[in-house]
Parts: sequence; C-alpha cells; structure tokens
Amino acid sequence: MCGIFAYLNYCVPRTRKEIFETLVKGLQRLEYRGYDSAGIAVDGNKKTTAEDNSNIVLIKKKGKVKALDEELYKKDGMDLEAELDTHFGIAHTRWATHGEPSALNCHPHRSDKNNEFVVIHNGIITNYKELKKYLNSKGYEFESETDTEVIPKLIKYVYDNRERDDLSFSTLVERVIQQLEGAFALVFKSHHFPGEAVATRRGSPLLIGVRSKYELSAEHIPIQYNSDLFKEGVQEKNSHNRPDNSTAVNSAGDGKAVEYYFASDASAIIEHTNKVIYLEDDDIVAVVGGKLSLHRLNSLAGEDSVRAIQTLQMELQEIMKGNFEAFMQKEIFEQPESVFNTMRGRICFDTNKVILGGLKDHLKEIKRCRRLIVIGCGTSFHAAVATRQILEELTELPVMVELASDFLDRNTPVFRDDVCFYISQSGETADTLMALRYCKDRGALTVGVTNTVGSSISRDTDCGVHINAGPEIGVASTKAYTSQFVALIMFGLMMSEDRISLQPRRLEIINGLRILPDMIKKVLTLDKKIKSIADELYQQKSLLVMGRGFNYATCLEGALKIKEITYMHSEGILAGELKHGPLALIDKHMPVIMIIMRDACYTKCQNALQQVTARSGRPIILCCQDDPEVSKNAYKTIELPQTVDCLQGILSVIPLQLLSFHLAVLRGYDVDCPRNLAKSVTVE
Ligand code: F6R
Repeated sequence: MCGIFAYLNYCVPRTRKEIFETLVKGLQRLEYRGYDSAGIAVDGNKKTTAEDNSNIVLIKKKGKVKALDEELYKKDGMDLEAELDTHFGIAHTRWATHGEPSALNCHPHRSDKNNEFVVIHNGIITNYKELKKYLNSKGYEFESETDTEVIPKLIKYVYDNRERDDLSFSTLVERVIQQLEGAFALVFKSHHFPGEAVATRRGSPLLIGVRSKYELSAEHIPIQYNSDLFKEGVQEKNSHNRPDNSTAVNSAGDGKAVEYYFASDASAIIEHTNKVIYLEDDDIVAVVGGKLSLHRLNSLAGEDSVRAIQTLQMELQEIMKGNFEAFMQKEIFEQPESVFNTMRGRICFDTNKVILGGLKDHLKEIKRCRRLIVIGCGTSFHAAVATRQILEELTELPVMVELASDFLDRNTPVFRDDVCFYISQSGETADTLMALRYCKDRGALTVGVTNTVGSSISRDTDCGVHINAGPEIGVASTKAYTSQFVALIMFGLMMSEDRISLQPRRLEIINGLRILPDMIKKVLTLDKKIKSIADELYQQKSLLVMGRGFNYATCLEGALKIKEITYMHSEGILAGELKHGPLALIDKHMPVIMIIMRDACYTKCQNALQQVTARSGRPIILCCQDDPEVSKNAYKTIELPQTVDCLQGILSVIPLQLLSFHLAVLRGYDVDCPRNLAKSVTVE
C-alpha cells in the first residue's frame, strides 16, 4: 500500500534540482496510496569508482512528501545545479505494514552502508522471516523492521556470490525474485550499474512511461528505442536462451535521448507522457544504455508474447484539484459527468438498448447461471448492497452480496454455475483479489467492475465493466460509488432486455438514467444548506443515519464517509431494526439523519420517524420535495428531487458525501488523507 516512482533520464541533461522536483512531484501524485513517510535515492556528487563505493545518496523522512521535499534541500554536499546527462533516481511513499512509520523503516532500503543496491517496494514479502534468518546467518545486518529490507540484502548476497563478473543487473534481480514469496512491485538501483534500472512485479501494480524528445508516433517509439524488442510492443525475451547481457539487446549508448518513468499508477506519469507499458506478473524490465528490454521469470523456450505500448486517455487536469479545496470535494462535484461517462456509449436512449461491451460475449453464460455473487470491500461493497434488490428484480436470479474478507473467512461454497462479480475502484484490493482467486479456482465465471484500467482485478477476471469514473484521488470514495451503482444497474438492464414482462420497469429506469446527471446537478445545489447543517453538527461525537429498502445502502455509505474523514462515530441503521436495539440510543441530544423517500418503504419509514420523535429525537430528514407529512416531524429537511426508486440512492448519498466533507473541514482534518487509511488496500 505504498507508492513507487522512479525517473531515468538518458542523454537528457537535467540538473539535480530538476530531478528532485520530478521525483517529488511523482510521489505527491501517489501520496493517496500511503503517506506516513517518504524517501528517495539519487546519485551523489562523486563519481563511482572501484575504490569509492558511496555514490548513491539516500534521503528519507517521516511524514508527508512535503517533509521529504524540504529535507532534500537541507542535504549537505548536494550540488543542486549540477547537470546530469544520464541519471536514475528512485522514490517511494510508504504506508506502514511492517514496522512503525520512521525514517529507518521507510524506503528506499539498502543492501549495506555503502548503498551498493537500493530498492523501493510496494507489497508484502511473506517469507521475509526465513530469508532474514538465512541472510543473518551469512553475516548480513538489518537496520529496519520491514519485510522489504531482505530484498536489497538478497541482491547483494547474489552479487557477492556471483559465479561470473559479467552477470547483468536484470539477471541478479531475476535470481532474487525467484526466492521471494508474496506480492511486490520493485524498482532497483545500483552503483555497480550506473544509469541502469531494473523493475519487476508480482501481484502489485507497476507501469512504465516512455518519453522521447523526438516527436514519434506510438508505432515508431518501439523501433526507435529497441529495434529488436519493440516491433509491435515490447517483445519478451526468452530467459533461458538469452546471454546474460541480453537485457541490453542493442549496443548501448546510441545517444537517442529518452526518459522513463516507473510508477504504481498512471496519475504520476500522465503529466510527462501518455505512452505507457503495463507490466504483467513476473515481467522483468531493464533499461541499459537508454534501451528498455523485457523478459520473463523462468520463461520457457519458444514462449512468445508482447507488451503493447498503450496510450493513456487520461488528461492531467483530470487529476488536478482545480478550484476545489480537496480532491474529495472535486470528485463529489464531478458526479454529473462521471455517471454520464459510465453510461456513455453503452445506453442507447433512442432504442432503450444497453450494451456493456466487456460482458456481451458472456451474456448467454451469465443468463444460465444459478446465482450471482457480488463481492467487494467498504464503499464498493455498499454499491453491491445498493443494487442487490434491483438486480434480483431484473435478472430474476438470487443475488448474494458479500464482504470479501468475510466471504473468505467462511470458505463460502462456490460452484461452476455461479457468476461472481468483483467491485473495486482500485482493482487492487487484496481481499477482493483473493476472493477472485478463490472463486476462479472453483470454476465460477468472474466479472470485474473496476475503475482502473490495467489493474489486477480487471486483468484477472474473465470479463468485466470499466466504470469510467476517472481517477479518484481522495481516499474517501465518492464518484466511484455512484458509477459502480450505475454500472451494476446497466448490467441488470442488459440481462432483462428480452423479458417482455419487465419492459415497463426497464423503460422507467432507462428514462431515470437519462436525466440522472441533471438530477445530480440539482442535488449539488444544496451544498450551502448542507454546510449550514454541518456548522451545527461538527462538534457532536456521534451521528446516526437511518433508512430502509433502496436507501439502506445510503445509510451505510453515508456513515462510512462520516467516520473515515471526520473521525466521528457514525452508524448506518436499517430503520426496520430500530426497535430491536438502536432505539435505546435516541434522545433529544442524539443527532439523527433519516432518509424517507416516496417509495415502497415510505409508510414503514414514517413509522420509524414516529418512533424517533416519540423519544424526543430531532431528526434531519432527507426526503422528496414537497412532503409536508414528513417535514412537519423534522428538525430540518434536505429536499431531494424524486427519481425512480432504484436510482434514488444515487441522489440520496450525495448530501451525505457533502456533509462528511464539510464536517471534516470544520473539524480541521485533512479530507483527502484521513489518518490510518490509504486509497488502495493491497494487504489483507
Ligand atoms: C471508503 C473507501 C474504502 C474502499 C475499499 C475498497 O471511502 O474508499 O472503503 O471502498 O477499501 O476499495 P476498492 O474499491 O478500491 O476495492
């Protein structure tokens, strides 16, 4: 749950200051992945010689990237104006898993006091204890509490015990990863291999951006950099057949200027280049003499595949905060467009047809299944809860919704004729990914619903839907939720296209979706009113959110938003459960939000309202416009436009997203980086 960023400039003169700036900016883009400490490794002023083994400089700092940035300029003896024609720098932002946040535990980690090899890592090495014991027995001393530190020690061990002097850097890395268990994305730097980079991954994301000073089209770039390897993308090399130095396929140093950016995700790369290569598990990439080559761990003779250079469609402005105070706020206000983008090209409002390109070839198989299992964590799980009822109605199949961690704990029975959906904004959530592997092993058809192209879940599932919400940077998920919601409803509509009895219902929903972006815009105009409610509530300790039916998921999701960014206690309560316990909490002091919309649960919700007001509760009620029956019992109302019952949850969640944002600001917290949380939870 960390962010990796590295930058290699080959025959592109950059001052050390410019290199620092590039590395720091890359880390800032990735800070949402983890932010308890950060560090970089760059070349120092000295030239590496056989006698002088201290050329790589490590700078590490506890806290946010900003703290590291300030530290860089305090470092003695670093000539900031020195121009480096070719240089490789690596950088990392950490979210602690093994060992407390501290400069010592933060990355890059090193092989020894001379920094012969330095490494940045995202993921977890599960067999680190065994490796550490072995390396200890060989005299290697450890300085941190991390699992990662075994990696630089191990590569030094392999290097020190190499049988030949001419082993390539990538061969050393290949030997190291043969010994590693767990998940990793790794980037290595070494003063034995100046100006060279080696990167690899297994289970954690890693991509590489390529920029040339030449104006080249995507097809030309490969030929320009590596005529053997890049005919149609990056060709794999066969590791058994290649000589040790085969990672540098062409003679090095043809002087063609090129820059490479290694990162955990595209948001750190897009401002430099839109040409990227997504690495697959066990790919090993090396840059030698400015040329990039790729081979695979233990690849067999005759194996052949390519990694295409892809063009990112994302715009830099999509990941910038603009005029908003926080990414979360920006993302809340983006929802009219993000839900529109989820539907774009998929719903034809003239013919009422819905086509999800990624699912259409599997539709027959899905229709034959005996149940749907929808799996996710946190907000993504809530999107499953929100759409369960309408999926049952439109697919006429039993629908189970599952928290990934609980699903795995229970060893839930899964069969070949089940269809399992994995909902995940990041596409990298460890629990969801493990549930995916669990169901795959049992022969179920797997469907990904993710927001991250090239993510592990989108690659490992049989088919899927990309929700197209655009990058979500704020740790608290907002626009991804509403887009997941819409994507799942579109799936229900696609499944029910040939059901004559369901046509009026389908039509009603499609018409609701058509005007959904405008409805969201109307809800967003309530922002001022919601801010005034936040002004009243922000010093409270607790906040209950109640509702039922189609709006129960809004209660869960609203309460999650409130607790994660305001640190207030908050609970989403099913109104039907009120008299079975939660009613005991109600008195005139307990802040309560109730959701009472005009749907099948309207009368039951009014009963709940009576129960609350009879105990002197003073509820703030989210209700439909012009509902005097409800308003007269409310302390305050937030009136929402009415839409189709199964879409109402998309509108009712937005006031709670806004409320949590304002509460967090008023309480003085960092909205985008809540304490103890990270955007992408790649550990169990
Ligand atoms: C809450 C939040 C988390 C995520 C959860 C799953 O605002 O963001 O609860 O929803 O960690 O993450 P993804 O969707 O990336 O699998």
